[in-house]
Amino acid sequence: MSNTARQSRKILVTSALPYANGAIHLGHLLEYIQTDIWVRFQKNRGQECHYVCADDAHGTAIMLRAEQEGISSEALIERVSREHQQDFATFGVAFDNYHSTHSAENRYFSELIYTRLRDKGHIATRDIEQMYDPVKGLFLADRFIKGTCPKCRTDDQYGDICEACGATYTPAELIDPVSAISGATPEVRSSTHFFFKLPDFADFMQGWINEGHVQPQIRNKLMEWFESGFNEWDISRDAPYFGFEIPDAPGKYFYVWLDAPIGYLASFKQLCEREGLDFDSYWAPDSDAEVYHFIGKDIVYFHALFWPAMLFGADFRTPTAVNCHGFVTVNGAKMSKSRGTFIKAATYAEHLNPEYLRYYFAAKLTAGVDDLDLNLEDFTARVNADLVGKVVNIASRCAGFVKKLGDGRLAGHCSEPEMVARFIAAGDEIAEDFERREFGRAMRRVMELADDANVYIAEQEPWVLAKQQGREQEVLEICSVGINLFRQLMVYLAPVVPAMAEGARDFLQLETLDWHSRHEVLIDHPIARFKPLMTRVEPDRIEAMIDASRRIWWKSRNSRIPPGGP
Ligand code: 2FM
Ligand code: ZN
Repeated sequence: MSNTARQSRKILVTSALPYANGAIHLGHLLEYIQTDIWVRFQKNRGQECHYVCADDAHGTAIMLRAEQEGISSEALIERVSREHQQDFATFGVAFDNYHSTHSAENRYFSELIYTRLRDKGHIATRDIEQMYDPVKGLFLADRFIKGTCPKCRTDDQYGDICEACGATYTPAELIDPVSAISGATPEVRSSTHFFFKLPDFADFMQGWINEGHVQPQIRNKLMEWFESGFNEWDISRDAPYFGFEIPDAPGKYFYVWLDAPIGYLASFKQLCEREGLDFDSYWAPDSDAEVYHFIGKDIVYFHALFWPAMLFGADFRTPTAVNCHGFVTVNGAKMSKSRGTFIKAATYAEHLNPEYLRYYFAAKLTAGVDDLDLNLEDFTARVNADLVGKVVNIASRCAGFVKKLGDGRLAGHCSEPEMVARFIAAGDEIAEDFERREFGRAMRRVMELADDANVYIAEQEPWVLAKQQGREQEVLEICSVGINLFRQLMVYLAPVVPAMAEGARDFLQLETLDWHSRHEVLIDHPIARFKPLMTRVEPDRIEAMIDASRRIWWKSRNSRIPPGGP
């Protein structure tokens, strides 16, 4: 089908909402870069594609962090949102809208979904017993209780898992438990909680996870969970809590994980209002749009079970797919603050070009859920060999001759039409790889083409011919082929390295490098003066980045806030 005849797809894409109490780090960036590449690819293909995100702004951790800093929760989430958006912009992650779960739109949809579920009988209430900090006047999540492991007797362990022996238990089983917030001995207290009756949706969920909305490995994991049975989901928390109060339930708040995914709707709604898009055509049960959530494998239950059930139960459409990725390791190990491999986005960007990372992640990403290792030696070697050594090299070898012999214009005819046609045709398979999130395979194909282009130029030896009288036209033609091949590669790389592609677009004096534009071969076309589009990774910059990360850890060692989580 020709491009003009094809209806463009309507696609809504999200990445997981980062918590508003911590900095973006390389682990986060894998997801945002993966999603952004996919979104840019869709847009370059002419699809109507919207990419939204927001800060995940509610919960006890954020409330306590604000208190520790002596500011309001609102002031904290405002500041962190600005920092997050700055980091995303630095890494070329181009959301169409970035919102917050602490927003009017999110309150509206949270209340709407909750009341629809409640009115259909899918909400239960009952009293539960929980640890309570009598000094802070706060119910304590497991993570906020510390004590001695009942199994191996190591002290100073969190209330759910022992870091020494790996045992899991309830906080009540800890020996000598204390509140990690105040140090007080917790009491057991009872309070009424609200539950989403997930078992009501067992058949729906089982069908949904078997209909191809999740990757096979994820489906298997979810089926295991299914077989072991599942419970109602506790969606309320007692005051004081930074969040939305539950309708008709004073002092009871939505648990952060209830309103977090609803933030996808809220952010998209804000975009719709601003740009005049039809929200319902994306979210009504009969929608013909596609909705994709990109997430890490650690939050799959929320997205592949609870979230579809909530949407279905509240008369919204369910996602087309939930796309999971694995975790980032650095040099083969879990990111470590003390080793300096827990690298914040901002620290990375102070030392290295963000597009190196975009390319490296792309080169290693598959559609699967395996962890991705950022091996820093391999990173240096791969970026230098591929982007600089192969791709930029083509343009830098050819541009000077075009300037000199063609007065900055490419030859008036293409001397290698078959080769150029082959590079154009390769775009169809590369597009399939991008579509399936097989970015590594796409990058391998692109680099094979780059090798072919370099072999062609090396064999033609334009620099030798240029020294011979009367062969100027031949040299111009060879280099014009080289520039045309380079242009094809930049079309394919544009979703991955958008800033480099923008430099290339400027050099090539083209209006666009979108996917379909590649069909028009550049003949008698002006090009601009060549500027290096990407420089080599310097290994000493990597060392400086690791050192800086280690120093950040040393400085923050005395923080009393327990790590992560809502
Ligand atoms: O795991 C996390 O970092 C959560 N803040 C992700 C939320 S994604 C969505 F549900 F909002
Ligand atoms: Zn233990």
